[in-house]
Amino acid sequence: ETILQLEQLALQARLQKARVPISGYGVGAALLGQDGRIFTAGNIECYGQTPSICAERVALFKALSEGCDQFTALAVCGGPLGEPLRGYCTPCGTCRQVLTQFCPSDMPVICTQAPGDHKLYHLCELLPFGWSRD
Ligand code: THU
Repeated sequence: ETILQLEQLALQARLQKARVPISGYGVGAALLGQDGRIFTAGNIECYGQTPSICAERVALFKALSEGCDQFTALAVCGGPLGEPLRGYCTPCGTCRQVLTQFCPSDMPVICTQAPGDHKLYHLCELLPFGWSRD
């Protein structure tokens, strides 16, 4: 099942791809393209904070740079590394705006804490009246 697969990939990406020397708060994301490709990523924290980037935007920018610009769903998870996840990480405001620019307004955003344990939002619910082309 696609949702379960995306959840598992986001959970795996958090453990394998998050680089969080500042906060220790690892976030994983898995972005499904309409062509079936899945782009996974973790958040990357940089000294001086400002250059840090969220997992969702790493996944989105990977996809765009690989020629995928039509998207179907996103799964995200986040929490302090080394601890079990306790709660459903939702995208930050910056990610919500960037996702609104590139993804369908009704795109499911699956916020997971374990395989099969998630809250599902549509992008337009996360950023009502978001600034977008239409
Ligand atoms: N962070 C994400 O990667 N995604 C979110 O949706 C929430 C916040 C991370 C956590 C921390 O690394 C911070 O963003 C750095 O920008």
